[in-house]
Amino acid sequence: MRLGIQISGRGSNMQALVQACSAADFPAEVALVLSNDPGAAGLAWAAGKGIATAAISHKGMDREAHERLMDAALVEAGVDLVCNAGYMRVLTPWFVEKWRDRLINIHPSLLPSFPGLNTHARALAEGVRWHGCTVHYVRAPVDEGPIIAQATVPVAAGDTPETLSDRVLTAEHRLYPIALRLVAEGKAPVVNERVEIPAGALPESLCHPG
Ligand code: GAR
Repeated sequence: MRLGIQISGRGSNMQALVQACSAADFPAEVALVLSNDPGAAGLAWAAGKGIATAAISHKGMDREAHERLMDAALVEAGVDLVCNAGYMRVLTPWFVEKWRDRLINIHPSLLPSFPGLNTHARALAEGVRWHGCTVHYVRAPVDEGPIIAQATVPVAAGDTPETLSDRVLTAEHRLYPIALRLVAEGKAPVVNERVEIPAGALPESLCHPG
């Protein structure tokens, strides 16, 4: 399975996917790292690893016109599955439907709690005891779509948005390759808008004990 990874910034989740794909038995390869921001740090990192990269700035462009250029680059690279990894643009229904069930995203909360931005500060403000991250198929409403896998982390006394974010990010880097493997092996089909995972295919260790 050929991946197109879309990023907007540092790309640490993209790095986790690249590292996973470097294992001989991993069922996917990175065909293209694509960004809406030519200055995204992750682009330079990927290029340094010899991975094909492209930057298509969205500035001064209609949202769908920009996405049509992104889509053309993905198609040109022979991409089968698009992985959003810190891609911070809201996608139009056109793009989402074009890549329906071939477009996944990682989000830094246990969806459907805390869609949108500033998830860690909002989790702390609500006083939740558990927080985490979600990999899901993308649908047009922001941060909605069939859930593939989630990982939990405990909220600790004295956490700040930064300390909680660090803990969640570590979980993201473990979760995304696991979820991607399920998708690439055909073990995460969408059935009636729910993802059906075979029994035992998801490691229990995704839940971090306090
Ligand atoms: C990650 O925490 C990711 O879950 C989040 O942005 C960060 C990107 O970090 N994505 C979103 O909030 C998307 N709505 P990274 O560039 O180091 O992977």
